[in-house]
Amino acid sequence: MSTKSVRVLVLVCSTRPGALGPAVGRWLIDTIAPRATELGVELLPVTLCDLALPFLDEEEEPASGVYRHEHTKRWSAMVDAADGFIAVTPEYNYGMPAAFKNALDYLGREWAWKPMGFVSYGNTSAGTRSVQHAKQVVTTLRLVPLGATVALRIADTVDHGRLRPDAGRDRAAVGVLDELVRLAHALRPMRERARSGSGEVPVPGSYVRPLTPDDAAEVLVLQRCCWVEEALANDTLAIPALEESLEQVRAWLATWQTTGLWRDGRLLGMVRTLRVDDDWHVGRLGVVPDLRGRGVGRWLLGQAEAAVDGGCRRIVLSTGARSQGNIRLYHAQGYRTESSDGATTSLTKPVPADGAVQVPGGEPAGAR
Ligand SMILES: Cc1cc2nc3c(=O)[nH]c(=O)nc-3n(C[C@H](O)[C@H](O)[C@H](O)COP(=O)(O)O)c2cc1C
Repeated sequence: MSTKSVRVLVLVCSTRPGALGPAVGRWLIDTIAPRATELGVELLPVTLCDLALPFLDEEEEPASGVYRHEHTKRWSAMVDAADGFIAVTPEYNYGMPAAFKNALDYLGREWAWKPMGFVSYGNTSAGTRSVQHAKQVVTTLRLVPLGATVALRIADTVDHGRLRPDAGRDRAAVGVLDELVRLAHALRPMRERARSGSGEVPVPGSYVRPLTPDDAAEVLVLQRCCWVEEALANDTLAIPALEESLEQVRAWLATWQTTGLWRDGRLLGMVRTLRVDDDWHVGRLGVVPDLRGRGVGRWLLGQAEAAVDGGCRRIVLSTGARSQGNIRLYHAQGYRTESSDGATTSLTKPVPADGAVQVPGGEPAGAR
């Protein structure tokens, strides 16, 4: 998961004219930008002043996700697209600013399973009471607050509205970004699972989502481990799933519809489909070695068959000509051998007029 880029919203939480918040936010962005580039992080500065959210004015509760107003829809889209947040917050009367609480209250699931770091500022306590206050609120939204923090005592830090240089403070800010990014990666499976819906899955705790070119690294590893048995059975390494480069995997992920089964950030299995004329091509059906024999491959094949495009007349797949086990299993699934050139055997299954493909029991694997 760690190869994916991370999008971080830097939220400046004060709204007063002449507030110090924007200067603290600018210092933070300038300080962490080089590290963000190294880590593949996109930093998006947002001030609650520019966002101009009125006091919560939606009729439905945020948990419903039903938003009437454009300002809510815009805010929802921004938070939804983010992987983590750094709140630049002052302390007002020993607590967080009302505008910050209001911005949090507007939304629900958009915040869930994302890390939130804090850069606080204030007088005697350097804004730390504001952070303590915010932490109780954000955990209710399933935001995960960081331990790493930066707390600025204004009298020690600010000169004529500008922050004095301080190498130790700069290092602490980079530390916040580092921890935020690690946590954003670690929580990604939680976010993906929360968004994947509640359909039936073949492995407890697993979830399904479409694979994209961003998943190429995981797909490459799965291919390399899944097609070795086929290489042994057919006495050849000339199998696309074993030979493809990362770029080639990325390219086909952009054109095929590929379904991945995941658990806790691990890709457990996959299958890809593509319509070519009236044929529904199914391939790259693979399951990790430790979960074979539990019906996962059959379940993935069922998903691929159930997704058949209307108007397709047959499902087409292929496997190694000497992959007897696979061929037997595909026959048990209702496929019949169409052709074999000595290296590859093609199998087909008719699609009934109503499109409801029958999936008998068994455990197929190794479709190319
Ligand atoms: C309404 C209000 C309440 C404040 N309460 C506190 C406080 O409880 N503790 C503190 O250290 N500073 C407090 N301050 C001082 C702020 O920390 C300081 O003015 C800071 O610059 C505010 O951030 P801003 O300029 O971004 O609005 C308060 C300031 C305001 C405007």
